[in-house]
Amino acid sequence: MKFSILLSTYHATNSHDLAKCLDSLCNQTLLADEIIAIKDGPIPEDSEHCLLDYSNRLPIRILEYPVNRGLGVVLQEGLLHCSHDLVARVDTDDEWIVSRTGIRERRIASDHETTFTLARDAADRALQTAGLTGPDVDLVIVATLTPEYGFPSTASLVQEAIGATTAGAFDLNAACAGFAYGLAVARGFIESEMYRTIVLIGSDTMSRVVDWTDRSTCVLFGDGAGAVVVQRTDTPGGIASTCLRSDGSGGPLLIQRAGGSRHPTSAQTLLDGSHYLRMNGREVYRFAVTATTEAALAVMVDAGWTTNEVDLFIPHQANVRIIESAARSIGIPMDHVFVNADRYGNPSAGSIPIALCEALDHRRIQVGSKIVTVGFGAGLAWAAHALTWTTPTGSS
Ligand code: UT7
Repeated sequence: MKFSILLSTYHATNSHDLAKCLDSLCNQTLLADEIIAIKDGPIPEDSEHCLLDYSNRLPIRILEYPVNRGLGVVLQEGLLHCSHDLVARVDTDDEWIVSRTGIRERRIASDHETTFTLARDAADRALQTAGLTGPDVDLVIVATLTPEYGFPSTASLVQEAIGATTAGAFDLNAACAGFAYGLAVARGFIESEMYRTIVLIGSDTMSRVVDWTDRSTCVLFGDGAGAVVVQRTDTPGGIASTCLRSDGSGGPLLIQRAGGSRHPTSAQTLLDGSHYLRMNGREVYRFAVTATTEAALAVMVDAGWTTNEVDLFIPHQANVRIIESAARSIGIPMDHVFVNADRYGNPSAGSIPIALCEALDHRRIQVGSKIVTVGFGAGLAWAAHALTWTTPTGSS
């Protein structure tokens, strides 16, 4: 079967970097049939000989990929992990994965990428798009459930890296609903006029907490980050309604048991695999459809919008079947729903900002577009917003 590995050229600034990436890719996956080099940044001038060297080991295809513009950022770095690769590791098949989830491929962070590096690069790109620099930023929020360390916060690392010398910074953990929760927090700070410019990032490396021998979860999650700059504007629009919800009784349904104060990491927790993510998929599925439907309807009612008025629905990208089912219950036709789970799987807190960025790139959002977005995940926690887009696409 055909299995491709994907290499972003975004971070390769010279042939040495490129060779390192190619080395790591070739060593990581012996099953690959080819390398696809995604040209989402310049390919270093002196690198042709390096690509040629590697093309003796694996065929290399170079694809042009549009660099993301708009308010937020998508990270394309990493491997494209087809379901085919998993067949060798667990008892699954492509047909099962695609028919039950709609997921066809995912981005998996390479060795040199972490939640912090993804978050930092996403923030850099968002600031660049907005025409701002580090000193303009008042607050950095990183929504994540896979932080760089237990502490310090990933947000503090990002704050330092982007040169936000006068900013505050903190991490926010609402699992896959983290970005939606973060947007509510940002809204509060902006509306209270406490801050002017907030960088909100959703970043997760789920591949680091997934048990790659557990077929019920390892086919679902991906890695990625997206960032937005949230600012006050005089243009009519913005966030019209926010809904935050939680049901802690569902905590055991989606949980990483070890590594916290209840079960500190020990030889035993490593042995029993309780440091991995565990999920009751069927129950989470039921919750996800109901929560998404109720939260979307709640913010639409609060904003005074009918379903016909919604230009784009951007739900958390956990499973295409969940998205379709929720859209049906809400009454939003699928051509008004943004779906990219087929290409990214579920990158947790990165899911909604990545989708938002892609929607901007694909010109599915214009000034005045009415957008409903819902995040859901472990906690159980879920959150929704109804917002009217105010920023010209392609600028800040
Ligand atoms: O961000 C939020 C996080 N997560 C989610 O939102 C995920 C929510 N849940 C889901 O998306 C779905 O429940 C799954 C995709 C995880 C599972 O789909 P399902 O249709 O609910 O399947 P199931 O759990 O009811 O399992 C059906 C069968 C089982 O076999 P038996 O017991 O019927 O013989 C599973 O063992 O499918 C089996 N199965 C698999 N078979 C092949 C489970 N995983 C796999 C697999 N490949 N990867």
